[in-house]
Amino acid sequence: MKAAAIRISRFHAGLMPRILEIETLSFPEDPYPEALFRQYQARCPELFLVARRGGEVAGYSITCAHGSRAELISIAVAPPHRRAGVAQALLDRTIRALRRSGVRDFDLMVRVSSVPAIAFYARNGFVKRRAVRRYYPDGEAGIHMRKTLE
Ligand SMILES: CC(C)(COP(=O)(O)OP(=O)(O)OC[C@H]1O[C@@H](n2cnc3c(N)ncnc32)[C@H](O)[C@@H]1OP(=O)(O)O)[C@@H](O)C(=O)NCCC(=O)NCCS
Repeated sequence: MKAAAIRISRFHAGLMPRILEIETLSFPEDPYPEALFRQYQARCPELFLVARRGGEVAGYSITCAHGSRAELISIAVAPPHRRAGVAQALLDRTIRALRRSGVRDFDLMVRVSSVPAIAFYARNGFVKRRAVRRYYPDGEAGIHMRKTLE
């Protein structure tokens, strides 16, 4: 069967209900509230991206860049669309844009329990730098990972 095409575009306010749905499915314990998504839309609109797969909004990612540094704020893919390259397409588009704008250090924090996410980041060249105890509000530790862009 032909793989469904994945298309990347910028987030716009009309997509908010679907992004909130993906968020709740992906982070049932601590989904970002709508107000936070709105803040990121205002602060980091260029790299607040959505991915459509087979016409349906399947995932989103948010990255904020400042000077030579950038942070991956969040990335999530709706469960039925996972392992189909959606997160990869979002990250590839983001990294291309960051390279063009001269970013060198691309950082993120991930929960120690997010095994799929850690595997995804490691495959993409993010390296674990340190663990931060009780980083998340529920007390879980976070891992700081960084990819250095040439
Ligand atoms: C992590 C997440 C974003 C990955 O999205 P995805 O669209 O399924 O990822 P992709 O299909 O693009 O995966 C690309 C590669 O990453 C790795 N990978 C992705 N998911 C993986 C998993 N569950 N286990 C192991 N490796 C995984 C694989 O190498 C994969 O390539 P392959 O499928 O050819 O083996 C998704 O699982 C998700 O939304 N999880 C819940 C939210 C979350 O934890 N977000 C990160 C918070 S910091």
